[in-house]
Amino acid sequence: MSVSDLPKIELHMHLEGAAPPAFIRGLAAEKKTDLSGIFDEKGAYKYKDFWDFLKVYEAATSVLKTPQDYYRLTRAVLEESAASNVIYTESFLAPDFCGGGDVGAWRDYVAAIGQAADEMEREAGIVMRAIPTCVRHFGPDQAKKTALCAAETVGGFVTGFGMGGDEAMGTQGDFTYAFDMAREAGLRLTSHAGEWGGPDSVRDAIRDLKVERIGHGVRAIEDLALVDEIAEAGIVLEVCPGSNVVLGVYPAWSDHPISELRKRGVKVTISTDDPPFFHTTMRREFDRLSETFGWEAEDFMELNKVALAAAFCDDATREVVA
Ligand code: ADE
Ligand code: ZN
Repeated sequence: MSVSDLPKIELHMHLEGAAPPAFIRGLAAEKKTDLSGIFDEKGAYKYKDFWDFLKVYEAATSVLKTPQDYYRLTRAVLEESAASNVIYTESFLAPDFCGGGDVGAWRDYVAAIGQAADEMEREAGIVMRAIPTCVRHFGPDQAKKTALCAAETVGGFVTGFGMGGDEAMGTQGDFTYAFDMAREAGLRLTSHAGEWGGPDSVRDAIRDLKVERIGHGVRAIEDLALVDEIAEAGIVLEVCPGSNVVLGVYPAWSDHPISELRKRGVKVTISTDDPPFFHTTMRREFDRLSETFGWEAEDFMELNKVALAAAFCDDATREVVA
């Protein structure tokens, strides 16, 4: 058996960013929207760098207009994940794209996405939980609206709150209000840090936002005292190696610090981020890690355990998945 056949726990995937290009092309045709500029000649998403990626991502997302569109998207994405033998997945959803931060509209989106997730749990045995996410470059005021959306829907399906977007815009601390509101509502917290920002960005997320997980976090490796602190505190890194290599955070898989972080006692987990954008799947991530670092089935089983323990779900769900 290849390691890619193992069951998998994924903690970091953006629902909009996981939209298969053919799905987005189909929606664009239905809505008579010309999105030809965001695809290459093979039909894959086309972008030059991370900042261009964010623009293409937002253009693709522009045809996801209704709760029904998100219902279809969720089914399509979970089918792909199940094909990688992902048995539990946490997906970031942006209230900004689901009703613009309006709580009433957001509730309808969550209902539609939750319905698709329930169906896929019955049909394909994959469990999904949702992490509403603010978009950093939309600013702290918009983030407060998204935190309110998240807080108003906290429950079985919506379990966390996070932040993605352009890490170069402002500081983690600018978003304290939104994260405090989410925490007080009972949501578990994660923020993208240490992808484009260095160790200080990771420190800020831990100190100012009091997150228990970090999206990426890999550039903590540039400060070994911070690596020790993260290991000691049990902060979990949602590492997305394929994303980092394709976006140029690291030139090659062999330069990626995931193995070094793990050796230094950091709780690392494996995810795809935005799989079709990075030509990846969870199967491919497992295969490439095995080829690059010699990891075997026992290593991946241990990483799965770390991920399940860090999952933003209740213990009853954890037991069902395990
Ligand atoms: N949103 C979607 N993918 C992202 C990434 N890799 N970094 C920051 N924000 C994102
Ligand atoms: Zn991400």
